[in-house]
Amino acid sequence: MFSNLGYFTVLEMEKEINEILENFQKRLPSANTKAEVAQISAEITGPNGSLTALMKVIPTLDKAERPAAGKLINQAKRRIEPMIAEAYARIESAQMSAALGQKPDISMPNFDIPRGTLHPLTLTIRRIASILKKAGFTVAEASDMETEWFCFDALNTPSDHPARDAQDTLFMPKEAKFSNVSKHSDELYLLRSHTSSVQIRAMLAEGVPLKIIAPGRAFRRDTVDATHSANFHQIEGLYVDKNVRLTDLKATLDFLFRSLFGGSVKTRLRPSFFPFTEPSFEVDFMSADMGKLSNKWIEIMGCGMVDPKVLENVGIDAEKYSGFAFGLGVERVAMLEHSIDDIRHFYANDVRFLRQF
Ligand code: PHE
Repeated sequence: MFSNLGYFTVLEMEKEINEILENFQKRLPSANTKAEVAQISAEITGPNGSLTALMKVIPTLDKAERPAAGKLINQAKRRIEPMIAEAYARIESAQMSAALGQKPDISMPNFDIPRGTLHPLTLTIRRIASILKKAGFTVAEASDMETEWFCFDALNTPSDHPARDAQDTLFMPKEAKFSNVSKHSDELYLLRSHTSSVQIRAMLAEGVPLKIIAPGRAFRRDTVDATHSANFHQIEGLYVDKNVRLTDLKATLDFLFRSLFGGSVKTRLRPSFFPFTEPSFEVDFMSADMGKLSNKWIEIMGCGMVDPKVLENVGIDAEKYSGFAFGLGVERVAMLEHSIDDIRHFYANDVRFLRQF
């Protein structure tokens, strides 16, 4: 390359460097493997590389020319380095897409998509379920669509019973056909007006003893306002075994409401009426720490001892077995938990609301 060692000038060196760079830029794009890139760069900056050889020439130059020569070589190196890095990256990405068969890698995390959150009603259902799980309850589920028998008759509410009016509800037209329900003869279908229908389904499916909760939707022909929604959620509870007593119900409710709203919570049972429980009660609770509602009785749910007629309707011996049942409104609990003043927030899907949970 430079046979004229000793007579070499900076000008000649500059020419030489430009040739090296030109040659390098021509060859680099044709490198298809990392080894080829390494080979090309070694030929320039490696121990026997052409730039390295030029470095060795510096001491033979005229003293005044040495700094300028060093500078030229270093500049050349600095131009080469990013080009080598780019060649490696080009080969790596080509290898990666070859390995993926050009398909996008769906296992790669995407940091740009904001994660959603669980709906506040889901959170409240899960919270109540995890509390009652500790008391031995398991979760049962059934369809939102029910027959009149499961929703009313089996629950000791015949068609002329006035309690049906209170749940004046969403019946399906008689001739309606549903792909997901096997419709028998002339049974009347409705969107269940309460989750109590799951009591009947669970007793028929599992027999006794039985200790279940059934979270789910319920539907009523209610006019929507701040405290009413035609579509809402309940958690049904049912415990049937030998010797289940009212004190078991009271203890379960105390445990539930203390777990939900704090250790100082008190509960009380007020006589009430449901066709499927006898005796029946409304449950009130009171807490010292409920904001504006502190130290006031707050009506929260219905409950009672399972009416023996209900047990008999599903073939359970009411002489041997007894039970308690309760039905809790999920929206009401969530509203108290988070001081939410309007039930409609739960269904508006406004992310400014939803993001807060
Ligand atoms: N199903 C009743 C309602 O929706 C609540 C309830 C459930 C009452 C179980 C007693 C026992 O109003």
